[in-house]
Amino acid sequence: MELIICKNEEEVTRQTANLIIKDIILDPKTTLGLATGSSPIGVYEKLVNAYQSGLISFKDVETFNLDEYIGIDRSHPQSYYSFMNQHLFNHIDINRDNIHLPRNHGGELEDLANEYSKMIDESEIELQLLGIGSNGHIGFNEPGTPFRNETFIVELDEQTRNDNARFFSSLEEVPKFAITMGIKNIMRAKKIVVLAFGKNKSDAVYKMINGNITNLLPASILQLHPNCTVIIDEAAASKLNK
Ligand code: GLP
Repeated sequence: MELIICKNEEEVTRQTANLIIKDIILDPKTTLGLATGSSPIGVYEKLVNAYQSGLISFKDVETFNLDEYIGIDRSHPQSYYSFMNQHLFNHIDINRDNIHLPRNHGGELEDLANEYSKMIDESEIELQLLGIGSNGHIGFNEPGTPFRNETFIVELDEQTRNDNARFFSSLEEVPKFAITMGIKNIMRAKKIVVLAFGKNKSDAVYKMINGNITNLLPASILQLHPNCTVIIDEAAASKLNK
């Protein structure tokens, strides 16, 4: 793992965005794996700026998102589909046919999950962007998820639902299930970039980098990825080297 510790959130965001911008410049037809949550919002802002200033185009870029809630419609303001439109897709020249998020309705959920895995395999993700949950989850691979899983239906952890309740009007409104890329899909990406900031991520970050590789801390599997860059601020790094 390559570790980059930045002074602050702004610097984490800048360095992360630059890695993606570099990929698009070098290969305008690149395939990106994208994440939601509050962590990548600033990254998407910088990508939009890079597009608006003419530095990059998303015309031929293909994207796969990590996950989507089950039980809310795509039009719900807190669906990850809405999130991606709001923060990225509505502001760039991406071809809508090249945008992929796991589908949460319109078929048996298991079939939809298998279909998504197949599409990811056929396209091959060049760079997968990841945040990390305070319990060490990546995508929605919660503690205890088998590492060999491909896209699957997951019951969300209480901690995850509590963490994400801030985006909904009450905890009861937070969906209980989601559909997520599995660890196997994530590990197949050629490059992985994980970003994190803030003290509440310091424990998960410490265990991801220095802990045992265990599915109780799903992000620890990233120690085995041949090209994984972790970009964090000093607060998120505060438990390292102690
Ligand atoms: C969410 C997403 C993850 C994200 C994580 C952290 O539940 N499924 O992809 O990395 O939680 O979110 P945040 O960046 O808001 O802390």
